[in-house]
Amino acid sequence: MKKQTGIQHLLGIEGMQPAAIESLLDLGETYLERHRSGKKIKKILKNRTQINLFFEDSTRTRTSFELAGKRLGADVINMSTSTSSIKKGETLIDTAMTLNAMRPSALVIRHGSSGAAELLAQKVGCAVINAGDGRHEHPTQALLDALTIRRRKGRIARLIVAICGDIAHSRVARSNIHLLNAMGALVRVVAPPTLLPDSIDRMGVEVHHDMEAGLKDADVVMMLRLQTERMGGSFVPSTPEYYHFYGLDAAKLAHADPDALIMHPGPMNRGVEIDSAIADAPRSAIQEQVETGVAIRMACLDALCRDLPDMGDD
Ligand code: NCD
Repeated sequence: MKKQTGIQHLLGIEGMQPAAIESLLDLGETYLERHRSGKKIKKILKNRTQINLFFEDSTRTRTSFELAGKRLGADVINMSTSTSSIKKGETLIDTAMTLNAMRPSALVIRHGSSGAAELLAQKVGCAVINAGDGRHEHPTQALLDALTIRRRKGRIARLIVAICGDIAHSRVARSNIHLLNAMGALVRVVAPPTLLPDSIDRMGVEVHHDMEAGLKDADVVMMLRLQTERMGGSFVPSTPEYYHFYGLDAAKLAHADPDALIMHPGPMNRGVEIDSAIADAPRSAIQEQVETGVAIRMACLDALCRDLPDMGDD
């Protein structure tokens, strides 16, 4: 969490202290349990407005932020870039200033440019949550992944986590690397050289180009999509060849720990980075990640907006 203009924001995991991460995971756990047991959740965000401003497509992240805000009693507004003035050429900052004048408590932003959330946080008077900025960070995804791992494995420290696939274009990989390193996991990345960022040597991870070595004894196997929309050209020879070398199938998974957890942030491309049967196996936590995502987003909204002024009359 970062303070700018006196308000707390969630812009990225880099630089977050383990204690701050742990406390968000604990709060997420509480919300997951309360929701599962059907307990009424206090209207923590009553009289607060949350605006979701998505400049890029999203299914899971946008709906789960919407659901999270509504479960906490906030008024949630979804701004779609296809129906707003953004289509008419309004800039990110002009749009943000207009929304800011409506005095929301939180602005949840997804944008194609790295640094967009940070820029917004400098301009507005409400909490900003980064829902993915370019290939930079996707902090709530890393937090929900961490909570899913902690629930299934009982801990994060000392686990071997293999993050496989398109690391170069993935904000999910970047946020997960920061979080897992902070929490004491042993992080490996497994990818062809073309799908690794130049900065990988400075990220505190073990680098593998071969799935057999990269998955050996892994406790968690996290698969990533080929993010072709961020690729200015071809980074793999062909999809079948990519699947042959890097797609997660039973033969490759056999090198990991027999109880290895299978994860994927979605959207999945079955038969490209993951075999369909593996994605649906009992060891797969992919659907659980979605459920945990709502709870983590509730925790983040609560932590950021709880102390902001109530804008209601009653
Ligand atoms: C990811 C994203 O948008 O960065 N998806 C998500 O938020 N669930 C990963 C992806 O798009 O491949």
